[in-house]
Amino acid sequence: MVDTATLVVDGKEITLEVSSPSEGQDVINVASLVNEGLFTFDPGFLSTASCESTLTYIDGDQGKLLHRGYSIEQLAEKSNYMELCYLLLRGELPAQSELANFIAAVEKETVVHEQLVDICSTFPPGSHPMGMLGTLVSAMSAFYHDGLDINDPDQRMQVAIRLLAQIPICAAIVFRHHMQKERVDLRPGLSYADQFYHLMFSESNDSEVDPILSKALDQIFLLHADHEQNASTSTVRLVGSTDANPYGCIAAGIAALWGPSHGGANEGVLKMIAEIGDESRIPQYIKKAKDRDDPFRIMGFGHRVYKNFDPRAACVRATCNDVLDRLGIKDDPILEIAKTLAKIAREDEYFIERRLYPNVDFYSGVILRALGIPQDYFTVIFAVGRTAGWIAQWHEMVSDGYKIGRPRQKYTGPRQRDYVAIDQRS
Ligand code: CMC
Repeated sequence: MVDTATLVVDGKEITLEVSSPSEGQDVINVASLVNEGLFTFDPGFLSTASCESTLTYIDGDQGKLLHRGYSIEQLAEKSNYMELCYLLLRGELPAQSELANFIAAVEKETVVHEQLVDICSTFPPGSHPMGMLGTLVSAMSAFYHDGLDINDPDQRMQVAIRLLAQIPICAAIVFRHHMQKERVDLRPGLSYADQFYHLMFSESNDSEVDPILSKALDQIFLLHADHEQNASTSTVRLVGSTDANPYGCIAAGIAALWGPSHGGANEGVLKMIAEIGDESRIPQYIKKAKDRDDPFRIMGFGHRVYKNFDPRAACVRATCNDVLDRLGIKDDPILEIAKTLAKIAREDEYFIERRLYPNVDFYSGVILRALGIPQDYFTVIFAVGRTAGWIAQWHEMVSDGYKIGRPRQKYTGPRQRDYVAIDQRS
């Protein structure tokens, strides 16, 4: 293992420390370069590790995703979202009593302020659900700001538990408002996913919860729980590094997730399939995707980090089939288009060469549509799951100590020049 690297600039040798992580690539510490009058330049952070973290490891070439060392495949098969939340926040899998206490603490925080419901009711019809969710989460700061000490680990854990408890409820309030449906009451004793399913879909307070469908939701939450330093998590950390109110930090993460290159891709998948409309039109869209002068991309294909396969996509594919079977959905034209696109990804040189595979959002979009969730609401489901990662990463950052995030730039504007009076400008 090398432990230093030498950079030669204008003949001057600069020694940089190289350290090894517990898994993955060695890391060159460039923090001292500023003392040499140099910055590094890495748009999109392709080669930049922005922090140390013990939560999640991704090996994009091998399609590997680990949370605290446990593979996503094992967690998806044997665990559930609540247990993963505990693992991410506390570092180890819980004993039975620890998990029971954690779930009880989450249940205790499920009462949201009625004013949040009032705020939601003021949104005009057609408002985007991600905008509404971000607003409600940001508004939570109004109720939990004064006296909040983010340097107190117990208070941080309380924030984490409250967000895990209340974000799904806010999401369900947004859903009911969006669908113009009456709300139902919380039903004590239901599991996390059953409660969410009930709040979203039940026609009455005592409607049955379908276990296959609520399990599918639990798995979608679990598969989306954390994904190291993606755009929204980096946003949460960056905003958190200013000591901002944590509800505001998570609201910022929700805004970052909204975009179609990130969490908005699952909505984009269904929009794109609807636009394609018919299998006969697929070749023309594939041609568009390959055309460098056309910004069109096949939504749900490709990933910044996974360059072989997305392990979450492999887990969710089986669930996708269970849900479609359970709902008796067959010969759906949308599904047929999705299947053909997935087949093309495996066979077409363009996608093979660039290592573009269907990602988790490709399949989760299909499941959510089958559940009857409107496509502009899909990213809200992603946000509910990702809450675990956002708050665990924020908690880790504050626990470990941090500097305010402040990237520099390569300035390419005009050099210094003199101001010209308006009547003398040519
Ligand atoms: N369809 C067609 N071509 C593509 C696609 C796509 N979906 N994605 C990448 N390419 C091409 C791209 O045009 C480029 O081609 P060339 O080498 O000829 O210039 C090459 O593949 C490399 O693309 P890139 O933009 O350098 O790749 P990236 O790592 O910067 O982008 C990505 C990753 C996810 C933003 C991109 O693949 C994409 O826009 N995918 C569609 C949106 C999507 O599904 N996003 C969800 C990601 S998973 C959820 C999450 O974790 O947030």
